[in-house]
Formats: sequence, structure tokens, C-alpha cells
Amino acid sequence: MTDVSDLASAVEQALREAGACADLPELDECRVRWLGKKGSLTEQLKSLGSLPPAERAAAGARINAAKVRVQEALEARRAELERLEDERQLAAGCIDVTLPGRGEGRGSLHPVTRARLRIEAIFRSAGFDVASGPEIEDDFHNFEALNIPANHPARAMHDTFYFPDGRLLRTHTSPVQIRSLLARGAPLAVIAPGRVYRNDADMTHSPMFHQIEGLVVGEGISFANLKAILHGFVEAFFERDLAMRLRPSYFPFTEPSAEVDMSCVFCNAKGCRVCKHTTWLEVAGCGMVHPHVLAAAGVDPERFTGYAFGAGIDRLAMLRYGVNDMRLFFENDLRFL
Ligand code: FA5
Ligand code: MG
Repeated sequence: MTDVSDLASAVEQALREAGACADLPELDECRVRWLGKKGSLTEQLKSLGSLPPAERAAAGARINAAKVRVQEALEARRAELERLEDERQLAAGCIDVTLPGRGEGRGSLHPVTRARLRIEAIFRSAGFDVASGPEIEDDFHNFEALNIPANHPARAMHDTFYFPDGRLLRTHTSPVQIRSLLARGAPLAVIAPGRVYRNDADMTHSPMFHQIEGLVVGEGISFANLKAILHGFVEAFFERDLAMRLRPSYFPFTEPSAEVDMSCVFCNAKGCRVCKHTTWLEVAGCGMVHPHVLAAAGVDPERFTGYAFGAGIDRLAMLRYGVNDMRLFFENDLRFL
């Protein structure tokens, strides 16, 4: 094969094979076949020794030139295959930015948040400030200062979650009454919305729920003021005629005390599972601030009187949006929310 025409046809064959390689592994096999240690062209170089010395130089030069051509053809095919592979990957991973979106829904406020914002707006417009307190409370603010000493039977009304160190998850927003009075003194008018916790769960009770506390302390504040503000609030919040009643009740931190009921919106006051066939749904507790509470918070009970109320925001949201099971608020089913 060392003569000129054999070598030329070998090179042609090598170039054809290189050009026909479909991928990089195939191309590598082709390279080994022609240029590898036992490749056809390499074998020819080895056979130079058997030629007469006068012919060796010329034959060696021809074979080397042939090797270079084949090498160049392999390189060219490699570049071509790599370019094709790049193009394939680009096409596969391509993002068409002109395609329309997939119709992701926009987020919206949680119904409890919407209710809270509405309530805050109503009370702000009536001159109340918005206060807050910690969800992890101590015994003093959650019970003691609210006229609920240790072993007081009223502690049994709250199924409290305790921490090992004696602190607790606040069972109501009433501790913010104490914090606000201690921080700001009288007179004052605040509301305090927030999360509260009780070991309690059914259609109208959730272990974590939301309350909004209201507290007004000043000279000459009376139960009539309390009733007026609650009525005004209910009218503004529901924007419809709903019966409201004050039912005498007991809280250690208010005297006298009452509970606020709204007529059940689910059965139009005919009696149903939600209102437990009473036609009423309790939405708040309220009363005149007990003198012990004012004194515990450093306010002179001879000079000042006040009223307070604590409403369930989740209950108010159920009533306003017609949701008959409070658990829906907390199961996080996006279709419902
Ligand atoms: C209290 O928590 C008193 N701190 C309210 C208060 C404040 C009275 C100021 C007087 C002066 P009560 O436990 O009744 O009271 O709860 C108040 C409201 O929270 C209830 O009317 C109800 O609307 C709501 N509520 C109570 N427990 C739950 C619960 N587990 N899940 C959802 N809402 C609840
Ligand atoms: Mg109650």
C-alpha cells in the first residue's frame, strides 16, 4: 500500500468514514482505526523499514502527509458534531418567552386577615389606637393582673397550653389590656388584635384563633358607652340588619360582664348545627373593667372607669362571609381560601 495510488485511496476511504461518523464515540473509533497504535496508517509507517533505503524518505513523507489530512478531517468532523450537539441542546432547552403564561391565580388575603383589617379600620375611624402584645405570655399578664389568681376556678375556663418554665401561650388578648395600661396610663382607647391559643377544637372552636381586644379607660366611661360602641361596630362590620344581644355573664376582669351574641346567619335564626339550635352565635365577651385590674395596672380606680371587650375575629369572619365551619380557615385549601 506504500505506492502512491493505494495510499491515496486509503486516505479517501478514511475521509469518507470520518465524514460519516454520526457521533463522538463513533468518531473516536474511526480515529483509532486509522491513526491509533495499530491503525492502518500507523502500520504503514512501521513497514517503512522493509523498503530499500533510497525510497524510505519519500514514502515516509507521503504517509505523514496522509496522516495529517486524515487528522484534519477527523478534527473537522469533531467540530461539526460538537456544533450539532450544542444546537440540539439549545433547541431542547429553549424557552419561548413569547408564549402566554399558564394562568397562575393571583394570591389574595386570608378571610381572617380581611376581617381583621376591616375591624381595625372601623375602630381606627372611631379614634382607637392599635396595640399588640406577645403570644408567649407570663402568668401575671394572662391571669394574675386580670384578677384571676392561682387556683381561681376561672382558670378552668381556659384550656391553657403551658411551657415547662411556667410561661404559656396566651389564652386571650386581655393581657394586652394590662400591657397597654402599664405602658401608656389612662385615659386611653386601644384595640389589640392577635392570635390566641386554647386546647379546644370543633366547628366553632379552633386551638389557635384570633381575638380582638378593646379597652377604653377614662373619667366617666359607662356601660352605655360600651353598648353604643359595640352596636356601632356590628352595624359597620356587617352592613346589614342582624340582631345583637348582650347576655349577662361572668369574667373575673370585668364587673358587670356580658357576652355579645349575634343572630345566626346560617339558619336566619331558625336553629341549626352551627348555632347548636340556639339561633345565636357568641362573638364577644365584654364588661366594665374590674377595679382590681385598673389597680394592678397602676390606674386609680377611684378616678377612672373603663370598659373592655374581646371578640373572636374568626367568628366574625364566619358570620360575614357565610363560612359554616371554622376549620376551613386553617386547613389551607387554596380553593376555599
Ligand atoms: C375571653 O377570652 C375574654 N378575654 C373576653 C373579654 C375581654 C371579656 C374583655 C371581657 C372583657 P371568651 O373565652 O368568651 O372570653 O372568648 C371571647 C371570644 O373569642 C368568644 O366570644 C368567641 O368569639 C371567641 N372564641 C373563644 N374560644 C374560641 C375558639 N376556640 N375558637 C374560635 N373562637 C373562639
Ligand atoms: Mg365565652
